[in-house]
Amino acid sequence: MRATSNALRAMLCLGLLVLGVLMAPGAWAQGKNERATPAYAEEQTMLQIEADSRVPDPGLLSTDSGRVHMDRHYLGQYGTKEGNVIVQRGGNTWRHLRNGPLATIAGFILLGVPLAIFVFYKTIGPAEPQPESGRKLQRFNRWERQVHWATAFAFVALGVTGIIIMYGKNIFLPWMGHNVFSWVAILSKYLHNFVGPLFVICSILMFATFLKRNFYNRADWLWIKKGGGLITHEHVPAGFFNAGEKAWFWGGVALLGLIVSVSGLVLDFAVGQTRYVMQVANVLHVTGAALYMAFTMGHAFIGTVGTPGAYEGMRHGTVDENWAKAHHRLWYEQMKTGVPPGLDKDGNVIPGAGAPAQEGRGAGPGPRPQPGPAH
Ligand code: HEM
Repeated sequence: MRATSNALRAMLCLGLLVLGVLMAPGAWAQGKNERATPAYAEEQTMLQIEADSRVPDPGLLSTDSGRVHMDRHYLGQYGTKEGNVIVQRGGNTWRHLRNGPLATIAGFILLGVPLAIFVFYKTIGPAEPQPESGRKLQRFNRWERQVHWATAFAFVALGVTGIIIMYGKNIFLPWMGHNVFSWVAILSKYLHNFVGPLFVICSILMFATFLKRNFYNRADWLWIKKGGGLITHEHVPAGFFNAGEKAWFWGGVALLGLIVSVSGLVLDFAVGQTRYVMQVANVLHVTGAALYMAFTMGHAFIGTVGTPGAYEGMRHGTVDENWAKAHHRLWYEQMKTGVPPGLDKDGNVIPGAGAPAQEGRGAGPGPRPQPGPAH
């Protein structure tokens, strides 16, 4: 009953939040340069050239002057390369998009998500803390934790410097002044450019390190159907990672990681790609980064105050047995008995129990994994 009214309250607050977002368009659009009107004379010239042209469009990735695709229009020497471009019309389109709707929507996401998390925390509340049993289970080894925190630190550095690059002119310049802000901006740009490739390497290592435990299995279906018990606080049985964590892995680390990494490398290393490609990469980069940051805020909340006891596992490597039993029961049972769920103690498949979930390190009917060290 309490959970239902909490859920209603949370939904009401979220509804109000969405309404606020819809009713205040443009609140974050100060990045838009109102004086950036289209260069009409040049555009007319381009349109004329386009109408007269009998030369086929050179294709999106070509560095030859594009005369047909509107947003690739250059005012340059006939048939010249990128280097000779005088005016590229797509630059104006991109600038309007980036400083207008993109900055506004990304801003709403970056402010709205922490607000939604706060509302969730206040209305529905975190998971119940488990009493300590005093017995510990090994959850993450040293390598897993190092890869995780290296990626997380790189991510936070990229997030902070990225926000300065995107919104600094509107947020910091007015109170820092041009002198100080120019240093902050230059520093942010270089940090962002150098940490980017490091983050790509960390993400690849992270993907490889956690991949094996992130394949979905039948137990995840129940977790999804019950919404992970996030609202009811019910402990839905889960393996080493639950379906929510797997969604974070595939949707966040893998998909959004790929989008920001590839687009970021295109922006970082100019090796002959056209301005048009850079503009598309920039739009993808900003969109992917905003969604990734939103996802990360949710992940960091659930991994700390949202689930008391979870942070300890990633900080020190071990979790209390009671925590494991409550939040990852199938994994806990597997660690205690050495038998993956779906198999009997002799390693035979239990009819009707579905495919055995091969999870956790050393899982499977072969050598039995031992419970972690008890302290
Ligand atoms: C910045 C604050 C962060 C905190 C406090 C945090 C905390 C945690 C915790 C406590 C866990 C263990 C959960 C469990 O025991 O099941 C975890 C897992 C994980 N974290 Fe983070 N994390 C943060 C940032 C990140 C970032 C930025 C990324 C990726 C770019 C990331 C990727 C992962 C992955 C892949 C896992 C394993 C879960 C899975 O593979 O499904 N974390 N994190």
